[in-house]
Amino acid sequence: MKVAEPLKLAARRVALRSSNCMAKYLLLSTSGNPASNSRIMGRVAFAHLQKAKVEVDWIDISQLDLPLCDADKCYAHPAVQKLNKAIAAADGIIVATPVYNFGVSAATKNMLELTGSSWEEKVVGFLCAAGGANSYMAVMAFANSLMLDFRSVIIPRFVYATGDAFDGDKLKDKKVGERVEQVADELVRFTKALRS
Ligand SMILES: Cc1cc2nc3c(=O)[nH]c(=O)nc-3n(C[C@H](O)[C@H](O)[C@H](O)COP(=O)(O)O)c2cc1C
Repeated sequence: MKVAEPLKLAARRVALRSSNCMAKYLLLSTSGNPASNSRIMGRVAFAHLQKAKVEVDWIDISQLDLPLCDADKCYAHPAVQKLNKAIAAADGIIVATPVYNFGVSAATKNMLELTGSSWEEKVVGFLCAAGGANSYMAVMAFANSLMLDFRSVIIPRFVYATGDAFDGDKLKDKKVGERVEQVADELVRFTKALRS
């Protein structure tokens, strides 16, 4: 018998509640720049989650050799399948993204086009690296797509940092560091609350 989509989701929610399995988290770094600032923030959030002893994985999509989304053969690509599996297995996800042309980078958007429904009902937070102060709404189109297409829950706290917060491969701005950790803490709080 074919089960209607809302019923399948409801059943999944009940199964999650009744299972004692720990929530899983995923840090997705999406910049291709070897000297990426969003990756530095992603590392800080990842270390914070590891210290909090939650189950967390790290994926840097620049290491995956992802194809461009062609809405056809791309879905069978091994790198896309690996990414889909990791996203589907996570309950809470932090996306560390560069700001390009007043939005998230094309690589970040391509990642979402490739993995679409794997994002269903995930809790999602953002760490954004930008060049200037004016693009602070850059994640909104991406976040709207997650919310309205895939019912992701976007945590109402994100980090937007410009180059002056960094010194080489270090995050030197303490306030930005605290905000990165707050985003990670909020991800865990929202994820646990939604699973209870
Ligand atoms: C193609 C391109 C477009 C960019 N567009 C913007 C922009 O619209 N707004 C902004 O504040 N910075 C912009 N920047 C600067 C980047 O956001 C900045 O270099 C940031 O550190 C990128 O993140 P990453 O270091 O994690 O790669 C742009 C950079 C590039 C290469």
